[in-house]
Amino acid sequence: MSQTIMITGANRGIGLEMTRQAAARGDKVIACCRDAMQATDLIATAKQNSDITVLGLDVCAENDMNQIAAGMTRAIDILVCNAGVLNSYGGMLDPKHDHVAIENVLMTNVAGVFFTARAFLPHVKKEKPGKIAVISSIMGSNRQSHSNAPIYRASKAAATNLARSMAVELEPDGIAVGAFHPGWVRTDMGGREASISPEESASGLLARFDALSLATTGVFENYKGDEMPF
Ligand SMILES: NC(=O)c1ccc[n+]([C@@H]2O[C@H](COP(=O)([O-])OP(=O)(O)OC[C@H]3O[C@@H](n4cnc5c(N)ncnc54)[C@H](OP(=O)(O)O)[C@@H]3O)[C@@H](O)[C@H]2O)c1
Repeated sequence: MSQTIMITGANRGIGLEMTRQAAARGDKVIACCRDAMQATDLIATAKQNSDITVLGLDVCAENDMNQIAAGMTRAIDILVCNAGVLNSYGGMLDPKHDHVAIENVLMTNVAGVFFTARAFLPHVKKEKPGKIAVISSIMGSNRQSHSNAPIYRASKAAATNLARSMAVELEPDGIAVGAFHPGWVRTDMGGREASISPEESASGLLARFDALSLATTGVFENYKGDEMPF
């Protein structure tokens, strides 16, 4: 049965590929990007499939997002908080870990997930209880500690933790929430050396979102369904 899936950061990378595959299988997709003028691949994809609606949405702009949500009447079956940034793979002394960059990473990867989920919660609740998927990362796991990208790692640890908190709070409403590691994916963020394609990651993730239920709410798993350590 066709469902409505809303995806943030849908103009490139994993978000764009999830948009393509969800629309191809018959879902209605609300594909969000922060700058529609620059989202040429997404606009081209949407032109070929009328089930894709492009929506301008910056996950850090809370007030704008609340206004967009207030004006939207559609129900959402799956809300995918995918937008994310990685400021640097360097260690503590990397100058790229400056105030502005750290603020941007924490605002996007943590607060952005929170703002998105809160703004569109009425739509996730609207017709029948939907689901919320947070795209996190194994790099945020305490069992995978490493000396590189400390700020990104901290942000993804927080994103996973946030998914857990939301899962507990929203369970009485029938809404399931999960955190998902997409694999190491060949995107602008993952780089060319990454181990899997956006196609493989997106198809696995969509299957995991379908499998997410109140029985599994609070899960942290990868795109193949393997449980990930917190
Ligand atoms: N690639 C990997 O190996 C990997 C591994 C683990 C987890 N992840 C996670 O998977 C998600 C997608 O990653 P990706 O590899 O597809 O990255 P990507 O190719 O760099 O794409 C990131 C997306 O997030 C959007 N974005 C960033 N800040 C935003 C904001 N404030 N508001 C709205 N959209 C914003 C970007 O939009 P713009 O084009 O406007 O910048 C872009 O669409 C991220 O959460 C990432 O942390 C990726």
